[in-house]
Amino acid sequence: MKIVLLGAPGAGKGTQAQKLVEEYGVAHISTGDLLRAAVKAQSELGVKAKEYMDAGKLVPDELVIGLVKERLAKDDAQIGFILDGFPRNTAQAAVLDTELAEMGVALDGALLVDVAFDVIVKRLSSRRTCRSCGYTAGPTVTVCPRCGGEMYQRDDDKPETIQKRLDTYQAQTEPLIEYYDGKGILIKVDGDRPVDEVYVDVKKELGL
Ligand code: AP5
Repeated sequence: MKIVLLGAPGAGKGTQAQKLVEEYGVAHISTGDLLRAAVKAQSELGVKAKEYMDAGKLVPDELVIGLVKERLAKDDAQIGFILDGFPRNTAQAAVLDTELAEMGVALDGALLVDVAFDVIVKRLSSRRTCRSCGYTAGPTVTVCPRCGGEMYQRDDDKPETIQKRLDTYQAQTEPLIEYYDGKGILIKVDGDRPVDEVYVDVKKELGL
């Protein structure tokens, strides 16, 4: 399985990726998680990235692309991978095409998890995320059921930043739907249903 996940912030990309990883053991390459780890470690890249993430903007390509190349080169990604949150604009998509061609690998599909923006605003404002493993749940969960870590509200899940992230998605990421449709590998699922129902469709559309 070698796929790209597309969809607005909060569409459920990470949730569906977690389920695929648990069932199929492929590598989950989430640029959001990689960037949050860099922020937590207060690395030079993390300090620069935080400013953009808190503003709901895309982190500059030169910071993100290196992280993805490094992650794609690791052993577990050779078996299969789910790219979650990358590419995020057409320049990143072109870099990914080149990188995969050099690796002699082709994408099986670009899976769009489709959810209306009003549903997304509600989901993101109530999301809590585990500080240790990135697991997500609703606002009543204070201890991560997966690893026991502390659940917190991401800085960019505050109401003022959610709308900025949606604007950024519309302006820069949405054109990728047409990009992958043009390549004949776009797959679309309705993400506004219970998680397990969405997952049944995801597997069906991926031929799993
Ligand atoms: P990133 O972490 O990638 O955030 P995102 O794309 O905004 O996606 P989210 O993680 O918010 O949402 P999701 O679709 O994974 O939804 P989830 O499954 O959690 O990026 C953060 C920032 O990093 C960006 O803003 C940018 O600054 C930077 N960045 C990242 N990648 C970059 C790149 N390539 N280039 C430049 N900058 C980059 O679900 C959301 C909530 O809904 C959860 O609470 C979940 O439990 C719930 N939920 C999920 N599915 C369902 C369902 N079917 N029904 C009901 N609730 C559901």
